[in-house]
Amino acid sequence: MKNEIFEKALLAALEVRKNAYAPYSNFAVGAAIVTTDGTIFTGVNVENSSFGATNCAERTALFSAVTAGYRDFEAIFIASNLSGKAVFPCGICRQVLADFNPEMRVILVNSETKKVEQDLLLSDIFPGVFEFGK
Ligand code: THU
Repeated sequence: MKNEIFEKALLAALEVRKNAYAPYSNFAVGAAIVTTDGTIFTGVNVENSSFGATNCAERTALFSAVTAGYRDFEAIFIASNLSGKAVFPCGICRQVLADFNPEMRVILVNSETKKVEQDLLLSDIFPGVFEFGK
């Protein structure tokens, strides 16, 4: 990924986090997913009083990209801060992301320091992907 796209996506994840709808957990997450052609789609967590209906920021970003016709993803930036640390994507989001690219780069950004805390591959944190066969 070009440096310029990297910086743009990092800032986009931090910026969009402000729109998180998290009145129950008060835990705001912003995500920016980058397509192979460098297009960026953002997402936030959207909670619900029926807790199970909550959508994580990562899936919001991916669903938005797919809705716009994009399916090839290179990286996802996830901005958050929980007790001083950026969080990893949840298991459901890992599975959803892996359906599109199990080798996607996952970049965890600390929303307080605004710095990259971890830069890894989805396959490092999500081996044994469930595949139904396409
Ligand atoms: N959440 C995300 O948006 N992404 C993650 O990677 C972890 C969890 C949200 C869901 C819920 O709104 C809140 O964080 C607490 O679980």
